[in-house]
This record gives sequence, C-alpha cells and structure tokens, in this order.
Amino acid sequence: MSELKLPDDFLWGGAVSANQCEGAWNVGGKGVSTADVAAAGKHGEARLYTETIQEGVYYPNHDAIDFYHRYQEDIALFAEMGFKCFRTSIHWTRIFPNGDEKEPNEEGLAFYDRLFDECLKYGIEPVVTISHYETPLYLVQKYGSWTNRKMIDFYLNLCKALFKRFHTKVKYWMTFNEINVITLNPEVAAGIRPGQGDSRSQTLYQAAHYQFVASAKAVKLGHDINPELKIGMMMLYPLSYAETCSPEDNLENMHNMDLHYLFSDVQVRGYYTPKAKKYFARNGIVLDITEQDLQDLQAGTVDYIGISYYMSLVTSATPERKIKVKGNMLDGIVNPYLEKSDWDWQIDAVGLRIALNNLYDRYQLPIFVVENGLGAIDVKVEGEPIQDDYRIAYLSKHIAQMKEAILVDGVDVMGYTVWGCIDLVSASTGEMKKRYGMIYVDRNDQGEGTLQRERKKSFEWYKNVIRTNGETLL
Ligand code: BG6
Repeated sequence: MSELKLPDDFLWGGAVSANQCEGAWNVGGKGVSTADVAAAGKHGEARLYTETIQEGVYYPNHDAIDFYHRYQEDIALFAEMGFKCFRTSIHWTRIFPNGDEKEPNEEGLAFYDRLFDECLKYGIEPVVTISHYETPLYLVQKYGSWTNRKMIDFYLNLCKALFKRFHTKVKYWMTFNEINVITLNPEVAAGIRPGQGDSRSQTLYQAAHYQFVASAKAVKLGHDINPELKIGMMMLYPLSYAETCSPEDNLENMHNMDLHYLFSDVQVRGYYTPKAKKYFARNGIVLDITEQDLQDLQAGTVDYIGISYYMSLVTSATPERKIKVKGNMLDGIVNPYLEKSDWDWQIDAVGLRIALNNLYDRYQLPIFVVENGLGAIDVKVEGEPIQDDYRIAYLSKHIAQMKEAILVDGVDVMGYTVWGCIDLVSASTGEMKKRYGMIYVDRNDQGEGTLQRERKKSFEWYKNVIRTNGETLL
C-alpha cells in the first residue's frame, strides 16, 4: 500500500517573501526597493507606488513583522510545527543596495547566512526565491528596470553572489516569483512604471524576455557552481474554466491559459512555441531576441515548477459579460459553484488537483506547491488562541486534493508550503488584517501593535498534518 502514502521526503513547510516580513528596510546597509515605496491600500483599492519615500505616507513593508530581528523566534515556531522546509526570498537591496554595484554588501549576505543556519539547525531546508516582488529602486530610476537588457547582468551578479555564498546551505532555488505576473501587474512584479515604453504589450513582453534570459543564465550558473542545486521557475497558476460548454467560451479559455503557458513553456522547454510567436506577430510585438539569447534559453531549462494556487476563475467569449469577481492579480466571472474568501477570491480546492494534472501532463517535471493559503479576517479574543477553523477547512481541502493528484493521478509533487505561514503584509493591499498565518502577529493596518507572536488553532492542526505526513487532515 506504500503507493497510497506520500513519499517520506515530501517537503512540508511554509512560505513568505523577504519584503512582506523582514521589515528593517534601511538596516544593515540595505538600499531602497520598490516594495519600500508601496503605500498601504485596502480591499478593492490598489496600492500607490510613490516615486521616492514621502513624508507622511505610511509604508507597511518598512517594518512589516520585523522578521529581520525576530527570525530566531519565528523559525523556532516553524520547527515546532515540524516544517521540513521554509520558503523565503532574498531582499535584493540587502545584497546590492542600488543593484548595479560590482561587490555585494557583506552585512546583507551575513544576515541570510544567519537565517539559513538557523533553519538548518532544526533540519529545515531553506527554499529560496531570488526575486520576489521587489526591485532596487535605483535600477528602476536609472535603467527603467526590466525594460532594459542591462538588468540581466545586474540580476546575474546577484545570483552569482548568492550561489557562491549559499550553495552548500540552500539546495532549492526559484529564479522569479510568479514570473507570469509581469504582464498583469508590472509595477509589483518587475518595477515597471505605468506608461513606460510606447506599446504596453511590446514593453512588457520584452521585459519578460529579459527575465527569461536572466533566469536561464541563472540556472546554468547555479548548476555550474554546484550541480546538486535544484533551480526552478515559479508561476501564478491561474486556473480558469469556460463559463459554458460552448466551443467559443472554451476556445477563449484556452487562449487565456496560453498566455500563461507561454511563461512556463519558455522556462521548461527552453524556447518560444509556434503559438507564442504567432501571438506576438498578431499583436505587432517585435522582440529584441538575439541568437545568443536563444542558446541561453535552451541551456538553462529549469529543474522543477513552483506554483502559487489560491483560487480559480471563469472565462467567457462574450465581451459584455459583466458579473465580475476579483482575484489574485486577475479578474473573472462569478462561479456559482464556489464560495469566496473575505477578499472575494473564489475558493476551489478541486481546482488544485486540476492545476497539478494540467501542468504535469504538459511537462512531466516535478511540481512544488510553494503558495496556497487563505487570506482572512481573524478575530482576536484576549487570552484565547484564534479559532481559525475556516483556514483549517481551506487548507485541509486543498491538501486532500493535492494528495488525490499525487496518489490517484500520479502527479509528481515535491512539496507544499502554506503561504504566509506567519501573518505578514499583503502584497496586493498592504494590509495586515488580510491574515494567512498559522502564527498570529500583533500588528494592525496602522502599524500599531506589539509584534508579539501567538499560535492560532491552525498551528496545532498543521503540526499534526506534518507529523502524519498528510494522513490526518482534520
Ligand atoms: C502571491 C504572491 O501572488 O499571492 C505573494 O506571490 C502574495 O507575495 C500572495 O502575498 C497573496 O496575495 P495577497 O495580495 O493576499 O498578499
């Protein structure tokens, strides 16, 4: 019956990003990143990115949850839950404050040394995203960020510093968080200001191309430094259903998904497919792609696919369909079969099974579910742990479906990390009250609170899930 059990080395854990939890935005020689100029927004109101740090504006990521100073306490809690791995990212501006320096900032490297050592002390495998939604602000202002080919070399300098320093401590890497978000929210994903470039699509796909090349060269570099490294890509998996069984709706849905597969195709297969090329031609997109780029893409295909999965969407071929629902970076039509989160994201656990099948059928490469979780309002009653049964319900249903994908459908899934295992600053809204954690952090949307950590009910639940290797879900 062993095939009905998850493998013993399944990587259970949690995930955060540097900019959403570290805080200490100007400590240890750190430079200013795009996340540091993101003001607070709220549900239904996007965050404003200011040109520079402005007096009187509240920037939630500046202090975040102060993980920079409290990582030991937090990792001890992760260890108590039994984490096998912990996914975080590197704050680029800790290592290269402006981004175009030749030599890395030792204080920044030393911080990540301490952080990874702390994980390893408990047998927790660090899983590192090299770039997660922050770009050095100086590179945005001086070079136009990823609209400029020079970014490839700046990024590779970062990768070189990281791989050389940490290759014996960190085995699992991802090059860019949710690389397909660059065309959906270029400011958040890649520091590309609104209005940069003459044709938006041209500019964004060009920037994506530079990221593809940067990522491929990073994969090659990492493998050259240490062939044992596993270097993956990471995409937001925007599962979408056709609204009806009409062929038109299904065709439209297929075309929507094609735009996302373009990103995984290039990184997994190492080339632009004929369909991608036709899409560019149809839309008048002419990219600066050199012969060397094409060779680099081929030489740097990824070892695994990391995905974030929170929700699903619905697509219609009828443009005037107006029953819209908000989602993670994307909007769609209301799905009457699904419930929604407090932030209107449509909850679809079965969708995770479908997503995993779709990706595995397409690529036969291991998949790592590096983000899945529920952003919800937790009600704090003094002296009692937060009773987050809704989070337990969400996570257990998703894990159950992931198990079906693995044990019934034969999908190769390496691991699962709960997004925001500790409460952190929301990427889309800058709120603290959109909580994902199994550990509560006493901090509100105005930046008030003691920052004290507290176990929620889901803490004990997840501990049990990991202890039983996913056997006990309720
Ligand atoms: C993913 C991002 O898109 O979704 C994370 O990789 C983000 O950075 C997560 O935090 C949840 O989104 P939000 O907007 O609720 O923080």
